[in-house]
Amino acid sequence: MDERQKIEQLRAELHKHNYQYYVLNQPSVSDLEFDQMMRQLQDLEARHPELYDPNSPTQRVGSDLNHEFQQVEHKRPMLSLANTYNKEEVREWYERVEDGLSGQPFQVCCEMKFDGLSISLHYEKGRLVRAVTRGDGVRGDDVTENIKTIRSIPLVLPNGADYPDEFEIRGEVLMPWESFEALNREREAAEEPLFANPRNAASGTLKSKNSAVVAQRKLDAYLYYLLGEGIPGESHYDNLQKAHEWGFKIGPQMKLVTTLQEIYDYIDYWDVERKNLPVATDGIVLKVNSLAQQRSLGLTAKSPRWAIAYKFLAEKQSTVLREVTFQVGRTGAITPVANMDPVQLSGTVVRRATLNNEDFIRNLDLHIGDHVFVEKGGEIIPKIVDVDLDARDENLGPRVEFVTTCPECGTKLVRYEGEAATYCPNDASCPPQLKGRIEHFISRKAMNIDSLGPETIAEYFRRGIVHDPADLYEIRRDQISGARGQKDKSASKILLGIQESTNVPFERVLYALGIRFVGETAAKTLARNFKSIDALAKASVEELLQVNGIGTVIAQSIITWFANPQNVWFVERLRSYGVQMELSEDELSEHTDKLLGQSIVISGVFAHHSRDEYKALIEKHGGKNVGSISAKTSFILAGENMGPAKLEKAQKLGIRIVGEDEFLSLIE
Ligand code: IVH
Repeated sequence: MDERQKIEQLRAELHKHNYQYYVLNQPSVSDLEFDQMMRQLQDLEARHPELYDPNSPTQRVGSDLNHEFQQVEHKRPMLSLANTYNKEEVREWYERVEDGLSGQPFQVCCEMKFDGLSISLHYEKGRLVRAVTRGDGVRGDDVTENIKTIRSIPLVLPNGADYPDEFEIRGEVLMPWESFEALNREREAAEEPLFANPRNAASGTLKSKNSAVVAQRKLDAYLYYLLGEGIPGESHYDNLQKAHEWGFKIGPQMKLVTTLQEIYDYIDYWDVERKNLPVATDGIVLKVNSLAQQRSLGLTAKSPRWAIAYKFLAEKQSTVLREVTFQVGRTGAITPVANMDPVQLSGTVVRRATLNNEDFIRNLDLHIGDHVFVEKGGEIIPKIVDVDLDARDENLGPRVEFVTTCPECGTKLVRYEGEAATYCPNDASCPPQLKGRIEHFISRKAMNIDSLGPETIAEYFRRGIVHDPADLYEIRRDQISGARGQKDKSASKILLGIQESTNVPFERVLYALGIRFVGETAAKTLARNFKSIDALAKASVEELLQVNGIGTVIAQSIITWFANPQNVWFVERLRSYGVQMELSEDELSEHTDKLLGQSIVISGVFAHHSRDEYKALIEKHGGKNVGSISAKTSFILAGENMGPAKLEKAQKLGIRIVGEDEFLSLIE
């Protein structure tokens, strides 16, 4: 077999294994074998650039070449569905269908309404050629490169040959709960804004201009509508079964029914059972099954008459409001928190819920003793959504007033133009703000002073030893030994940890400063672009905005921060203790962000570089070295003789193994 044939064979096999793993959930080879085949294919493709195939299984890792999305017109408009919210409305639809079909018998296909964003996929001769978002229904964005990274979407149809030459299949792109929660945990640690629900996370991800980021975010897709000239079946259900045979992932909850009662039963069953599904759903969809009957029922301007959505009610409970307290965060933002009679909601007991902001409370005309509705949708923190005005009785307490002074330091609160939040402006001495800044400064992704924790900080703060992060470098041994029963040994450890933090690279120092909106990623980007704190402090808004990834909010926040003489003084003090305020010589050379956001485990013995050199290379290219394999590991850089325990764990978790040469070409 020559190399061209070998490439073709490997591609076909990898497409098949991919389908068995990601669509059927039935892996047919071990992950190791899969990786080996993939590596072999990558090597062969590298030797034969003339055999490049945009749909090769090697193309799923994405690329970080930014490109704008092209707008394209849909071949057939993407209609939406009319919504119903109760069984009565479902019955009305069912009767309209009966009338429309003049009493002919008909079947209804019941399926889940997946809560993501809709996508239209085009296949020609069994190959994915284009993927377009819904857009306004007439035109959408061409997101093909991003879609290719979703492993359950076939790039080349692996099975059977009975698909038409050209067809379109539509479905929903989703971020599974598990990926959503992991992503938000990472964002929380990096102090980046959290995604409110998996739909927003999926949509934010799919619109990313960097398909390598999309590849890491683990999106999934369920397909629910096959269209085109020569599609095989005479019914929706049969078509989707066919599509499944061709390699597409279909919602397994699909069911054909013939009576209204069966529809109600399906609704009742899935309203409860959907909580066990790996992805978010927000209702069910009912479709007349026969395509001939669909055609005879036709469309309205916005939606088909042959289908309807039934939306589940967001889980909501009523309870009594007892007290409203106000919390002050690190940035001084005040969060009103409702304390309520305990209530069961989506499987947990809820006692506290957020009340958003001042306007929200005023608009509800909220009183203590009010019956409030609490909701927990895709969101993480329960929230109050409404008040039951009819349930008010003579026990109603006073109206809830938003505090006007800071509950912690007594300073008059302020609201900035265009912002809904209320702030305590006393960032120089409001205790939770000061403590919060020190806690942020020592945190793992900032200065990583892990010999200190929140309790010790609170204690030092109370005793007047530290007031701001720079004070840490002035702590004397006699001030802390003996405190909280600390022995000399732990005092030494703390002092050593603080001292060692002066070696932390500038990009993390920049993050540690706690400039609003400058999270871990923005800090890295800024450090690499400006290279020193002095250059950053001098930068104008225009210069900041020229940096890829820095928008007006971050730019403005940086300008405001450096305009405050106290902050300038804070930087000078840190600098005087030896904290890094510029990139080192070493870091200045050859930095990229090719491995940005990736957690990499090194294992085995290498031929070209030492382990330490590889560690440095990973950091240099923006990646993170981690010691042990977990579900969060992006890949393993493996040399010869990788440890058997590591190998087994990697296989179990399905983590990619990257060889030395492949790694070097990744960062080339
Ligand atoms: S069928 C003409 N089936 O819901 C019919 N849509 O509100 C096309 N959706 O834009 C849609 N799950 O994004 C269909 N099983 C399902 C669905 C589904 C979710 C979404 C889709 C559509 C929206 C309509």
